[in-house]
Amino acid sequence: MATSERMGGQIDTSASLRYRKGIRLLADIQTLKRKSKPVNRRSSAPMSNLPFSVFAKLCDMLKELYGLSSVADFRATGGGFTTENFLCSDGTNTYFLKRYHTPDMSRLHDIMAAYACFSRGGIPIITPIRNAQGDDCFFLDESWWSVFPFVAGIKKRGEELTERDVQKLGGLLAAIHRVGMDCPPADIQPIALWNKNVFLSEKHALEYAYTHLASKQDVDEMAFENVQIQDRFLRDHHDYLSDISLINHSLIHGDFTHNNVFFKPDGEILATFDLDKTCLAPRGYEVARSVFITCFDHAWDASSFRLAHAFLRAYLAAYPMNFAEFHDGLHAYVSHFMHMTWLEKKILVDRSKQHAALMRSSTVRVKHLSEEFLTLAERLYPFDDATQSVSRPSGT
Ligand SMILES: Nc1ncnc2c1ncn2[C@@H]1O[C@H](COP(=O)(O)OP(=O)(O)OP(=O)(O)O)[C@@H](O)[C@H]1O
Ligand SMILES: [Mg+2]
Repeated sequence: MATSERMGGQIDTSASLRYRKGIRLLADIQTLKRKSKPVNRRSSAPMSNLPFSVFAKLCDMLKELYGLSSVADFRATGGGFTTENFLCSDGTNTYFLKRYHTPDMSRLHDIMAAYACFSRGGIPIITPIRNAQGDDCFFLDESWWSVFPFVAGIKKRGEELTERDVQKLGGLLAAIHRVGMDCPPADIQPIALWNKNVFLSEKHALEYAYTHLASKQDVDEMAFENVQIQDRFLRDHHDYLSDISLINHSLIHGDFTHNNVFFKPDGEILATFDLDKTCLAPRGYEVARSVFITCFDHAWDASSFRLAHAFLRAYLAAYPMNFAEFHDGLHAYVSHFMHMTWLEKKILVDRSKQHAALMRSSTVRVKHLSEEFLTLAERLYPFDDATQSVSRPSGT
Protein backbone atom coordinates (compact mmCIF):
# COMPACT_ATOMS: atom_id res chain seq x y z
CA MET A 1 0.00 0.00 0.00
CA ALA A 2 1.32 3.43 -0.88
CA THR A 3 2.44 5.61 1.99
CA SER A 4 -0.21 8.22 1.22
CA GLU A 5 -2.96 5.57 1.40
CA ARG A 6 -1.59 4.21 4.67
CA MET A 7 -1.71 7.66 6.16
CA GLY A 8 -5.26 8.14 4.91
CA GLY A 9 -4.55 11.68 3.80
CA GLN A 10 -3.23 12.63 7.22
CA ILE A 11 -0.21 14.79 7.68
CA ASP A 12 3.12 13.00 7.64
CA THR A 13 4.07 13.14 11.30
CA SER A 14 7.77 13.74 10.73
CA ALA A 15 6.93 16.64 8.41
CA SER A 16 4.46 17.95 10.92
CA LEU A 17 7.13 17.66 13.61
CA ARG A 18 9.55 19.66 11.50
CA TYR A 19 6.82 22.25 10.90
CA ARG A 20 6.34 22.60 14.65
CA LYS A 21 10.11 22.87 15.03
CA GLY A 22 10.00 25.61 12.38
CA ILE A 23 7.42 27.47 14.41
CA ARG A 24 9.59 26.95 17.52
CA LEU A 25 12.57 28.26 15.60
CA LEU A 26 10.55 31.36 14.79
CA ALA A 27 9.64 31.71 18.47
CA ASP A 28 13.34 31.32 19.38
CA ILE A 29 14.19 34.02 16.90
CA GLN A 30 11.56 36.32 18.45
CA THR A 31 13.04 35.66 21.93
CA LEU A 32 16.56 36.25 20.66
CA LYS A 33 15.35 39.47 19.10
CA ARG A 34 14.14 40.75 22.43
CA LYS A 35 17.44 39.84 24.06
CA SER A 36 19.63 40.92 21.17
CA LYS A 37 22.18 43.60 21.80
CA PRO A 38 23.55 46.05 19.27
CA VAL A 39 26.33 44.42 17.24
CA ASN A 40 29.82 45.42 18.34
CA ARG A 41 32.56 46.19 15.88
CA ARG A 42 34.43 42.95 15.10
CA SER A 43 36.20 41.27 12.23
CA SER A 44 33.20 39.42 10.85
CA ALA A 45 29.42 39.59 11.04
CA PRO A 46 27.75 37.45 13.72
CA MET A 47 27.31 33.77 12.78
CA SER A 48 28.71 34.18 9.28
CA ASN A 49 31.99 34.69 7.45
CA LEU A 50 30.87 38.03 6.11
CA PRO A 51 33.58 40.66 6.79
CA PHE A 52 32.36 43.19 9.32
CA SER A 53 32.83 46.11 6.91
CA VAL A 54 30.49 44.41 4.43
CA PHE A 55 28.03 43.54 7.21
CA ALA A 56 27.98 47.15 8.39
CA LYS A 57 27.28 48.37 4.87
CA LEU A 58 24.62 45.68 4.47
CA CYS A 59 22.89 46.90 7.65
CA ASP A 60 22.91 50.45 6.27
CA MET A 61 21.41 49.32 2.99
CA LEU A 62 18.75 47.20 4.69
CA LYS A 63 17.79 50.25 6.70
CA GLU A 64 17.75 52.68 3.79
CA LEU A 65 16.30 50.44 1.11
CA TYR A 66 14.01 48.15 3.13
CA GLY A 67 13.25 50.19 6.24
CA LEU A 68 14.78 47.66 8.65
CA SER A 69 15.36 49.89 11.67
CA SER A 70 18.01 47.54 13.10
CA VAL A 71 19.47 44.23 12.01
CA ALA A 72 19.60 41.53 14.68
CA ASP A 73 20.23 37.79 14.80
CA PHE A 74 22.12 37.80 11.54
CA ARG A 75 23.36 34.37 10.54
CA ALA A 76 24.34 32.33 7.52
CA THR A 77 22.02 29.41 6.77
CA GLY A 78 24.31 27.58 4.42
CA GLY A 79 23.70 27.97 0.77
CA GLY A 80 23.58 26.39 -2.59
CA PHE A 81 26.25 26.39 -5.25
CA THR A 82 25.36 29.69 -6.83
CA THR A 83 24.14 31.64 -3.82
CA GLU A 84 24.82 32.26 -0.15
CA ASN A 85 21.86 32.58 2.21
CA PHE A 86 21.33 34.44 5.50
CA LEU A 87 18.60 35.04 8.05
CA CYS A 88 18.11 38.20 10.02
CA SER A 89 15.40 40.09 11.84
CA ASP A 90 14.61 43.72 12.58
CA GLY A 91 12.91 43.04 15.91
CA THR A 92 9.51 42.63 14.23
CA ASN A 93 9.92 40.43 11.18
CA THR A 94 12.37 37.80 10.00
CA TYR A 95 13.96 37.93 6.55
CA PHE A 96 15.75 35.51 4.24
CA LEU A 97 18.65 37.16 2.39
CA LYS A 98 20.17 35.71 -0.74
CA ARG A 99 23.54 36.73 -2.11
CA TYR A 100 23.99 35.73 -5.76
CA HIS A 101 27.50 34.73 -6.72
CA THR A 102 27.09 35.86 -10.29
CA PRO A 103 27.94 39.53 -10.84
CA ASP A 104 26.11 39.24 -14.19
CA MET A 105 23.25 41.75 -14.11
CA SER A 106 21.57 40.23 -17.15
CA ARG A 107 21.27 36.92 -15.29
CA LEU A 108 19.77 38.76 -12.31
CA HIS A 109 17.39 40.53 -14.64
CA ASP A 110 16.16 37.16 -15.91
CA ILE A 111 15.63 35.86 -12.38
CA MET A 112 13.74 38.96 -11.25
CA ALA A 113 11.61 39.02 -14.42
CA ALA A 114 10.70 35.37 -13.81
CA TYR A 115 9.62 36.08 -10.20
CA ALA A 116 7.42 38.90 -11.48
CA CYS A 117 5.96 36.80 -14.31
CA PHE A 118 5.07 33.79 -12.16
CA SER A 119 3.76 35.91 -9.32
CA ARG A 120 1.55 37.93 -11.72
CA GLY A 121 0.29 34.65 -13.13
CA GLY A 122 -0.94 33.55 -9.68
CA ILE A 123 1.76 30.96 -8.93
CA PRO A 124 2.37 30.61 -5.18
CA ILE A 125 5.98 31.71 -5.15
CA ILE A 126 8.08 33.52 -2.54
CA THR A 127 9.14 36.70 -4.30
CA PRO A 128 11.81 39.22 -3.33
CA ILE A 129 10.66 42.27 -1.38
CA ARG A 130 10.68 45.40 -3.55
CA ASN A 131 12.95 48.08 -2.10
CA ALA A 132 12.67 51.86 -1.82
CA GLN A 133 14.26 52.27 -5.24
CA GLY A 134 11.58 50.03 -6.77
CA ASP A 135 14.08 47.20 -7.33
CA ASP A 136 13.99 43.55 -6.31
CA CYS A 137 17.74 43.41 -5.66
CA PHE A 138 20.66 45.63 -4.72
CA PHE A 139 24.41 45.57 -5.32
CA LEU A 140 26.95 45.24 -2.50
CA ASP A 141 30.49 43.84 -2.28
CA GLU A 142 30.69 42.71 -5.91
CA SER A 143 27.39 40.78 -5.60
CA TRP A 144 23.68 41.21 -6.14
CA TRP A 145 21.45 40.57 -3.11
CA SER A 146 17.71 40.04 -2.62
CA VAL A 147 15.59 40.13 0.53
CA PHE A 148 12.70 37.68 0.92
CA PRO A 149 10.14 37.35 3.70
CA PHE A 150 11.03 34.42 5.97
CA VAL A 151 8.46 31.68 5.43
CA ALA A 152 8.08 28.75 7.85
CA GLY A 153 6.95 25.93 5.56
CA ILE A 154 7.37 22.17 5.58
CA LYS A 155 10.20 20.71 3.52
CA LYS A 156 9.94 17.03 2.57
CA ARG A 157 12.83 14.71 1.83
CA GLY A 158 12.66 12.49 -1.27
CA GLU A 159 11.95 9.35 0.75
CA GLU A 160 9.04 11.06 2.56
CA LEU A 161 7.13 12.00 -0.59
CA THR A 162 3.75 10.35 -1.06
CA GLU A 163 1.81 9.95 -4.30
CA ARG A 164 -0.44 12.78 -3.16
CA ASP A 165 2.59 15.04 -2.63
CA VAL A 166 3.96 14.40 -6.10
CA GLN A 167 0.51 14.92 -7.63
CA LYS A 168 0.51 18.36 -6.03
CA LEU A 169 4.00 18.97 -7.42
CA GLY A 170 2.99 17.81 -10.92
CA GLY A 171 -0.06 20.08 -10.83
CA LEU A 172 1.99 23.07 -9.72
CA LEU A 173 4.61 22.50 -12.40
CA ALA A 174 1.85 22.43 -15.03
CA ALA A 175 0.51 25.74 -13.69
CA ILE A 176 4.03 27.21 -13.79
CA HIS A 177 4.46 26.14 -17.41
CA ARG A 178 1.07 27.50 -18.46
CA VAL A 179 2.05 30.89 -17.05
CA GLY A 180 5.57 30.55 -18.46
CA MET A 181 4.21 29.77 -21.90
CA ASP A 182 1.71 32.64 -21.86
CA CYS A 183 3.94 35.45 -20.76
CA PRO A 184 7.59 34.59 -21.28
CA PRO A 185 9.41 37.91 -20.89
CA ALA A 186 10.88 38.48 -24.34
CA ASP A 187 14.51 39.08 -23.41
CA ILE A 188 15.18 36.08 -21.14
CA GLN A 189 18.12 33.88 -22.08
CA PRO A 190 17.49 30.38 -23.46
CA ILE A 191 18.82 27.39 -21.58
CA ALA A 192 22.49 26.48 -22.04
CA LEU A 193 22.64 22.73 -22.69
CA TRP A 194 25.53 20.39 -23.28
CA ASN A 195 28.70 20.66 -25.29
CA LYS A 196 30.34 17.37 -26.14
CA ASN A 197 33.82 18.80 -26.59
CA VAL A 198 33.67 20.39 -23.15
CA PHE A 199 32.75 16.99 -21.70
CA LEU A 200 35.75 15.33 -23.38
CA SER A 201 38.20 17.96 -22.07
CA GLU A 202 36.75 17.68 -18.56
CA LYS A 203 36.89 13.90 -18.74
CA HIS A 204 40.62 14.05 -19.44
CA ALA A 205 41.17 16.49 -16.56
CA LEU A 206 39.20 14.24 -14.18
CA GLU A 207 41.06 11.11 -15.26
CA TYR A 208 44.33 12.91 -14.63
CA ALA A 209 43.16 14.00 -11.17
CA TYR A 210 41.97 10.46 -10.34
CA THR A 211 45.26 8.87 -11.42
CA HIS A 212 47.25 11.28 -9.26
CA LEU A 213 45.20 10.91 -6.06
CA ALA A 214 47.43 10.01 -3.12
CA SER A 215 44.70 7.77 -1.68
CA LYS A 216 41.37 6.73 -3.14
CA GLN A 217 38.07 6.45 -1.24
CA ASP A 218 34.95 4.65 -2.53
CA VAL A 219 33.40 7.96 -3.66
CA ASP A 220 36.51 8.60 -5.78
CA GLU A 221 35.98 5.23 -7.47
CA MET A 222 32.30 6.13 -8.01
CA ALA A 223 33.19 9.48 -9.54
CA PHE A 224 35.74 7.89 -11.86
CA GLU A 225 33.37 5.09 -12.87
CA ASN A 226 30.57 7.60 -13.54
CA VAL A 227 32.71 9.47 -16.04
CA GLN A 228 33.57 6.19 -17.80
CA ILE A 229 29.87 5.22 -17.99
CA GLN A 230 28.99 8.66 -19.30
CA ASP A 231 31.73 8.45 -21.92
CA ARG A 232 30.53 5.03 -23.13
CA PHE A 233 26.95 6.27 -23.19
CA LEU A 234 27.89 9.32 -25.24
CA ARG A 235 29.77 7.13 -27.75
CA ASP A 236 26.62 5.02 -28.28
CA HIS A 237 24.22 7.97 -28.28
CA HIS A 238 26.37 10.53 -30.00
CA ASP A 239 23.90 13.38 -30.01
CA TYR A 240 24.93 16.89 -30.66
CA LEU A 241 22.58 19.52 -29.36
CA SER A 242 21.58 20.34 -32.92
CA ASP A 243 20.41 16.71 -33.39
CA ILE A 244 17.41 17.28 -31.16
CA SER A 245 14.71 19.63 -32.35
CA LEU A 246 14.03 21.66 -29.26
CA ILE A 247 12.25 24.96 -29.13
CA ASN A 248 12.95 27.16 -26.12
CA HIS A 249 9.44 28.42 -25.88
CA SER A 250 8.55 28.40 -22.21
CA LEU A 251 9.78 30.27 -19.19
CA ILE A 252 10.67 27.47 -16.78
CA HIS A 253 11.29 27.43 -13.03
CA GLY A 254 14.70 25.88 -13.68
CA ASP A 255 14.99 23.89 -10.45
CA PHE A 256 11.48 22.66 -9.76
CA THR A 257 11.93 19.77 -7.34
CA HIS A 258 10.66 18.87 -3.86
CA ASN A 259 13.77 20.67 -2.54
CA ASN A 260 12.40 24.01 -3.66
CA VAL A 261 8.82 23.69 -2.42
CA PHE A 262 7.26 24.29 0.99
CA PHE A 263 4.19 22.24 1.97
CA LYS A 264 1.45 23.24 4.41
CA PRO A 265 0.53 21.00 7.36
CA ASP A 266 -2.57 19.81 5.45
CA GLY A 267 -0.38 18.53 2.59
CA GLU A 268 -1.25 21.33 0.17
CA ILE A 269 1.60 23.28 -1.38
CA LEU A 270 2.39 26.50 0.43
CA ALA A 271 4.83 27.98 -2.08
CA THR A 272 7.75 27.34 -4.36
CA PHE A 273 10.96 29.38 -4.33
CA ASP A 274 14.50 29.52 -5.75
CA LEU A 275 14.33 30.70 -9.36
CA ASP A 276 18.13 30.82 -9.56
CA LYS A 277 18.13 28.56 -12.64
CA THR A 278 15.11 29.99 -14.46
CA CYS A 279 15.42 30.39 -18.24
CA LEU A 280 13.58 29.79 -21.50
CA ALA A 281 13.49 26.09 -22.29
CA PRO A 282 11.31 23.33 -23.69
CA ARG A 283 8.84 22.44 -20.94
CA GLY A 284 9.38 18.72 -21.64
CA TYR A 285 12.97 19.17 -20.48
CA GLU A 286 11.87 20.56 -17.11
CA VAL A 287 9.17 17.91 -16.71
CA ALA A 288 11.79 15.15 -17.17
CA ARG A 289 14.31 16.86 -14.87
CA SER A 290 11.73 17.43 -12.13
CA VAL A 291 10.50 13.84 -12.29
CA PHE A 292 14.00 12.37 -12.09
CA ILE A 293 15.20 14.52 -9.24
CA THR A 294 11.93 14.34 -7.27
CA CYS A 295 10.91 10.70 -7.77
CA PHE A 296 14.24 8.93 -8.36
CA ASP A 297 16.48 10.85 -6.00
CA HIS A 298 16.61 8.34 -3.18
CA ALA A 299 15.95 5.09 -5.06
CA TRP A 300 15.37 3.58 -8.48
CA ASP A 301 12.68 0.95 -8.01
CA ALA A 302 8.99 0.23 -8.55
CA SER A 303 7.98 2.87 -6.00
CA SER A 304 10.00 5.53 -7.88
CA PHE A 305 8.12 4.67 -11.07
CA ARG A 306 4.80 4.81 -9.18
CA LEU A 307 5.65 8.28 -7.93
CA ALA A 308 6.77 9.35 -11.41
CA HIS A 309 3.48 8.17 -12.93
CA ALA A 310 1.51 10.03 -10.25
CA PHE A 311 3.54 13.20 -10.90
CA LEU A 312 3.14 12.93 -14.67
CA ARG A 313 -0.57 12.10 -14.62
CA ALA A 314 -1.22 15.21 -12.53
CA TYR A 315 0.96 17.33 -14.82
CA LEU A 316 -0.59 16.01 -18.04
CA ALA A 317 -4.14 16.35 -16.72
CA ALA A 318 -3.51 20.03 -16.09
CA TYR A 319 -1.40 20.68 -19.18
CA PRO A 320 -1.42 17.93 -21.81
CA MET A 321 1.78 17.06 -23.67
CA ASN A 322 1.97 14.47 -26.42
CA PHE A 323 4.42 11.61 -26.32
CA ALA A 324 6.78 13.11 -28.91
CA GLU A 325 7.23 16.30 -26.89
CA PHE A 326 7.72 14.32 -23.67
CA HIS A 327 10.18 11.98 -25.37
CA ASP A 328 12.25 14.84 -26.79
CA GLY A 329 12.30 16.67 -23.46
CA LEU A 330 13.45 13.54 -21.66
CA HIS A 331 16.02 12.87 -24.36
CA ALA A 332 17.39 16.40 -23.89
CA TYR A 333 17.51 16.05 -20.11
CA VAL A 334 19.30 12.69 -20.19
CA SER A 335 21.80 13.92 -22.78
CA HIS A 336 22.48 17.03 -20.73
CA PHE A 337 22.80 15.01 -17.53
CA MET A 338 25.22 12.60 -19.17
CA HIS A 339 27.50 15.50 -20.09
CA MET A 340 27.61 16.92 -16.56
CA THR A 341 30.85 16.54 -14.62
CA TRP A 342 30.61 19.22 -11.93
CA LEU A 343 29.91 16.69 -9.17
CA GLU A 344 32.81 14.45 -10.17
CA LYS A 345 34.99 17.57 -10.15
CA LYS A 346 33.86 18.38 -6.60
CA ILE A 347 34.95 14.89 -5.53
CA LEU A 348 38.12 14.29 -7.55
CA VAL A 349 39.53 17.81 -7.82
CA ASP A 350 38.10 19.86 -4.95
CA ARG A 351 38.10 16.81 -2.59
CA SER A 352 34.74 17.96 -1.16
CA LYS A 353 33.40 15.74 1.62
CA GLN A 354 29.96 17.40 1.64
CA HIS A 355 29.20 16.12 -1.87
CA ALA A 356 29.73 12.44 -1.04
CA ALA A 357 26.03 11.70 -0.42
CA LEU A 358 25.06 13.43 -3.66
CA MET A 359 27.73 11.40 -5.46
CA ARG A 360 26.16 8.17 -4.24
CA SER A 361 22.66 9.05 -5.48
CA SER A 362 24.07 10.40 -8.74
CA THR A 363 25.84 7.08 -9.33
CA VAL A 364 22.51 5.25 -9.19
CA ARG A 365 20.99 7.67 -11.68
CA VAL A 366 23.94 7.55 -14.10
CA LYS A 367 23.86 3.75 -14.12
CA HIS A 368 20.11 3.42 -14.69
CA LEU A 369 19.80 6.28 -17.17
CA SER A 370 22.61 4.81 -19.26
CA GLU A 371 21.18 1.28 -19.21
CA GLU A 372 17.48 2.09 -19.58
CA PHE A 373 17.62 5.22 -21.70
CA LEU A 374 15.93 3.82 -24.83
CA THR A 375 12.87 2.47 -23.03
CA LEU A 376 12.45 5.17 -20.40
CA ALA A 377 10.10 7.52 -22.24
CA GLU A 378 7.63 4.68 -22.90
CA ARG A 379 7.90 3.41 -19.34
CA LEU A 380 7.34 6.82 -17.84
CA TYR A 381 4.64 8.25 -20.09
CA PRO A 382 1.56 7.29 -18.09
CA PHE A 383 -0.74 6.38 -20.99
CA ASP A 384 -0.89 3.00 -22.72
CA ASP A 385 -1.19 4.46 -26.17
CA ALA A 386 2.04 6.45 -25.72
CA THR A 387 3.56 5.91 -29.13
CA GLN A 388 0.29 5.79 -31.06
CA SER A 389 -1.07 8.99 -29.60
CA VAL A 390 1.25 11.23 -31.57
CA SER A 391 2.34 11.82 -35.06
CA ARG A 392 6.11 12.03 -35.28
CA PRO A 393 7.93 13.13 -38.40
CA SER A 394 8.89 10.01 -40.36
CA GLY A 395 12.37 8.69 -39.69
CA THR A 396 12.45 9.76 -36.02
N1 LIG B 1 11.89 32.76 2.06
C1 LIG B 1 12.36 31.74 2.77
N2 LIG B 1 12.05 31.62 4.07
C2 LIG B 1 12.54 30.61 4.83
N3 LIG B 1 13.38 29.66 4.39
C3 LIG B 1 13.72 29.73 3.09
C4 LIG B 1 13.24 30.75 2.20
N4 LIG B 1 13.75 30.54 0.98
C5 LIG B 1 14.51 29.44 1.09
N5 LIG B 1 14.50 28.94 2.33
C6 LIG B 1 15.22 27.75 2.84
O1 LIG B 1 16.59 27.87 2.48
C7 LIG B 1 16.99 26.80 1.64
C8 LIG B 1 17.90 27.30 0.55
O2 LIG B 1 17.19 28.26 -0.21
P1 LIG B 1 17.26 28.27 -1.81
O3 LIG B 1 16.79 26.97 -2.33
O4 LIG B 1 16.54 29.48 -2.29
O5 LIG B 1 18.79 28.50 -2.00
P2 LIG B 1 19.92 27.72 -2.77
O6 LIG B 1 21.09 28.55 -2.53
O7 LIG B 1 19.49 27.45 -4.15
O8 LIG B 1 20.06 26.37 -2.02
P3 LIG B 1 19.94 24.92 -2.60
O9 LIG B 1 21.19 24.62 -3.34
O10 LIG B 1 19.74 24.14 -1.34
O11 LIG B 1 18.75 24.90 -3.53
C9 LIG B 1 15.70 26.21 1.10
O12 LIG B 1 15.82 24.85 0.80
C10 LIG B 1 14.71 26.48 2.20
O13 LIG B 1 14.76 25.45 3.18
MG1 LIG C 1 17.13 25.59 -3.69
